[in-house]
Amino acid sequence: MLAHGPVGRQITPERLTRHLLLLADSSTGVAALSLLGSEAARRGLAVTLLQNSASGGLPPRLLQADVEYRSTTPEAGGLLGALPALLPWADELVVAAAPPLLDTLAALRRARAAPFTLSAGKPIRAVPLFEPRSGAGGGDLLPCGTGMCGACEVRVHGGWRLFCHDGPAFPLEELRLVEDEPRDD
Ligand code: FES
Repeated sequence: MLAHGPVGRQITPERLTRHLLLLADSSTGVAALSLLGSEAARRGLAVTLLQNSASGGLPPRLLQADVEYRSTTPEAGGLLGALPALLPWADELVVAAAPPLLDTLAALRRARAAPFTLSAGKPIRAVPLFEPRSGAGGGDLLPCGTGMCGACEVRVHGGWRLFCHDGPAFPLEELRLVEDEPRDD
């Protein structure tokens, strides 16, 4: 799992966003979104961070006082299960999760299916949590964090982006995470 640095571009909420919903799958997702949450709250936005975790939520001492924190579990339906109750409140979402969940969210929104029936136009940015790409010999590439190695390539419509340079957040509708075509290289 890629987990280095602050990398890439700062995630800045949209100008008109007043209610920011952060969805974090696992503690890795919380780590990816916690700085954004505290910065947005400091600027006066109402921020709710929902964590899905099989092993319980974060210890209270690690929570930002000005960020509303909620937790769920895979058994309770995970992030997708909790989303219908929170989505109407949110002006914008940022989701840090593995590709299958991001792909499911994108498909539901494209189809305007529940819970996006009335909310398909809300901006959603996605922070993909994924394993580094394998090198030519089959082993994992060691992520460089500088845009040089290609270990963090993220597939988007029309090509590839680098998580460490162009990310960490991408518009959900631009991602094409499920590999359905072979690479050209
Ligand atoms: S980690 Fe992004 S190019 Fe090396």
